[in-house]
Parts: sequence; C-alpha cells; structure tokens
Amino acid sequence: MTELAYPEPLTDGVVRVRPWHDGDLPCVEQASEDPRIPQGTTVPVHWTPEAGRAYIARQHARLTSGEGWALAVADQRTDRAVGHVNLMLRPQAGVAGIGYWIVPGARRQGFGSRAIALMTAWGLGAGGFARVEAWVEPDNVASQRVLEDNGYLQEGRLRSFLTFGTRRADVFVYSRVRAIAAG
Ligand SMILES: CC(C)(COP(=O)(O)OP(=O)(O)OC[C@H]1O[C@@H](n2cnc3c(N)ncnc32)[C@H](O)[C@@H]1OP(=O)(O)O)[C@@H](O)C(=O)NCCC(=O)NCCS
Repeated sequence: MTELAYPEPLTDGVVRVRPWHDGDLPCVEQASEDPRIPQGTTVPVHWTPEAGRAYIARQHARLTSGEGWALAVADQRTDRAVGHVNLMLRPQAGVAGIGYWIVPGARRQGFGSRAIALMTAWGLGAGGFARVEAWVEPDNVASQRVLEDNGYLQEGRLRSFLTFGTRRADVFVYSRVRAIAAG
C-alpha cells in the first residue's frame, strides 16, 4: 500500500486547503442540509454531531488507507471551513480523480474555483500525477463551470456510469493533464 502524507496547507492568499478537524463540524452540518451534497458523498443525510465527527474521521482514514487526500476548504482570513476538496487515486498509474463541494451559504464567492485550482496545481505538481479527472452529472452546470474556469477539458459522456441510491446517472468526463515538455 502507498503511504500518503498531507501536503502543507495550500493557499492562494484567499482560500486555504488544509486537513479537517473537529472545529469544522458546522461546515459538515451545513453540507448535510444541501439536497445534492449527501447524494454523491458520505456527508450524513441525517445530521448529528456524532455523524459529523465520523465524517471527519473518514476523511483522515482516506489518507491512512492510501485512497487519497480529502481536505477542508477554508477561508484564509478566519480559517472557517466552507467546503471540501479531494484527490483520490484511480486504478490507472498517475491518474487521480478530483471531488469537491462548497456549503450553500458560501457559494458564488470563488471558493470552489480557487480550491480546484490549488488542488489541481498540487496534484499535477508536487503530487506527481500526470492526469486529474472529474466526473460530473450533465445537469450540474455549476460544477462544469468551475472545472472549465480551471482549464479542464470535457472529453466525453459515460452512460449510466454512477449510482445514487437506486438512480443511475450519466457523467461528463473532464480532465487536466500535466504539460508535456516539447522536444
Ligand atoms: C460546484 C460548486 C462546488 C461550485 O462552488 P462555488 O464556490 O459556488 O463556485 P465559484 O464561486 O468558484 O464559481 C466560479 C464560477 O462558476 C460559475 N458558477 C458557479 N455556480 C454556478 C451556478 N449555480 N450556475 C451557473 N454558473 C455557476 C460561475 O461562472 C462562477 O463565477 P461567478 O459567480 O463569478 O459568475 C458548488 O456549486 C457545489 O458545492 N455544488 C454542490 C456539490 C457539487 O455539485 N459538487 C460537484 C460534484 S461533481
């Protein structure tokens, strides 16, 4: 099993991407109230502080199990967590998948786009990946916009690719790849 370690907090001066801690429970609670976030993540559908703490523990377990990096997106000024971004190893060598959410009250302020920028730059740089990809449902315009803002290209549509409860969903595949040196 690959042994992973958290990077130093990633920041652009506005957003800070750093490990989760129990002080972030209000963020998990707000995420659990969103109709979309608990569907595609392990954010609890029914909020309790215990369920919130278990969510945070699961994010750290992703690192120790070698699955990938699951980090909080925080406001640099206050360190208040407003969302989540992760980079998970795919079975193919050098490929990672990116996932993200921002709590409803903090959307349209650039947190999502900045977090994706930081995580992608780290993944294709110090993280050592050649490709970072995302799977997005065709009706999820917000998610497609933040990827396109960050230079991700849409590559195609995978039919009936994901399952949400009993519902099956198509996804658009997006990716960014490491620049290949000329010559
Ligand atoms: C997708 C998501 C992370 C975007 O986060 P965000 O912090 O609101 O995004 P940003 O503020 O960085 O938005 C960057 C740009 O994306 C576009 N955008 C964001 N939300 C949008 C929306 N609902 N509709 C249309 N465009 C949108 C805009 O161009 C925006 O810039 P602008 O508001 O200045 O015009 C957020 O909507 C979310 O958490 N959704 C639910 C969970 C989810 O779908 N996760 C992804 C699963 S693949």
